Amino acid sequence: MKIGIIGTGHIGASLVRKLSEAGHDVKVANSRGPETIADDLLTHGARAVTAEQAATDVEVLVLSVPLSAIPGLADLVKRLLEQATVVETSNYYPQRDGAELLPEGIVESLWVSEQLGRPVAKAWNAIGSASLATNGRPQGAEGRIALPVAADRDQDKKIAMQLVEQTGFDAHDAGSLAESWRQQPGTPCYGTDLTLEQLPAALAAADREQAPVRRDIIVQIFTTWLGAGTNPDAEWGVAMARLVECGPDFQF
Ligand SMILES: NC(=O)c1ccc[n+]([C@@H]2O[C@H](COP(=O)([O-])OP(=O)(O)OC[C@H]3O[C@@H](n4cnc5c(N)ncnc54)[C@H](OP(=O)(O)O)[C@@H]3O)[C@@H](O)[C@H]2O)c1
Repeated sequence: MKIGIIGTGHIGASLVRKLSEAGHDVKVANSRGPETIADDLLTHGARAVTAEQAATDVEVLVLSVPLSAIPGLADLVKRLLEQATVVETSNYYPQRDGAELLPEGIVESLWVSEQLGRPVAKAWNAIGSASLATNGRPQGAEGRIALPVAADRDQDKKIAMQLVEQTGFDAHDAGSLAESWRQQPGTPCYGTDLTLEQLPAALAAADREQAPVRRDIIVQIFTTWLGAGTNPDAEWGVAMARLVECGPDFQF
């Protein structure tokens, strides 16, 4: 498929590597220009382009940018054909994105869809960057991590689930965008590296009021130990997320 990826940070870089290695025709952009994109991202044929070019003539556009950058990308996204699939990996962290960015209680992916004026699929948002980079496994491998995928259009969900599988993870249909609060930060499936057997129970156990509380506890813990903006390694990050988000009774 022809895929544009905007964002070459913790998540975007892994998606560029994995999706180009899987044989897709990948164009990639960041905010600073193609000349700033590292050569080691382009080893499987991905091409560094401007953000405008990344959103032109593609079947899939992946947005892996801070949530606060989404409104500024709306004009680019309008270049896409109506049937193209936009996959977004966003999560809302008020500490990073601004406390006023989202109306209280709004589902994050619905807000993204509204900002962009088109349907989106939500995928790869619920895995930490270290696990995404290193813990993918082939289909059928024991203990393969499963990731929730939410979307309102069948074609978007199907494509996003296929791409998730190709990056080394089982894809789980997590329902509509309206239900995707169940995969937001602070919920039991978020950053906890669960399997396909465990994931449905985690989504069902999500607590909408407690999720932001638990999200902020985890930010505090990570900031205390690592400093602001540093992502944890996979093992410690998952252990901390399981402790805070899943509680003592969850069956792993
Ligand atoms: N980190 C995680 O563990 C994790 C896990 C799951 C989901 N997420 C979510 O995924 C998204 C990306 O996270 P991340 O950790 O990969 O972020 P990151 O490391 O900060 O990288 C963000 C990327 O977005 C690019 N960008 C920002 N504004 C842009 C714009 N206006 N136009 C084009 N590119 C722009 C940046 O460009 P420059 O390189 O030029 O600065 C950078 O490449 C966030 O919403 C985050 O919450 C993160």
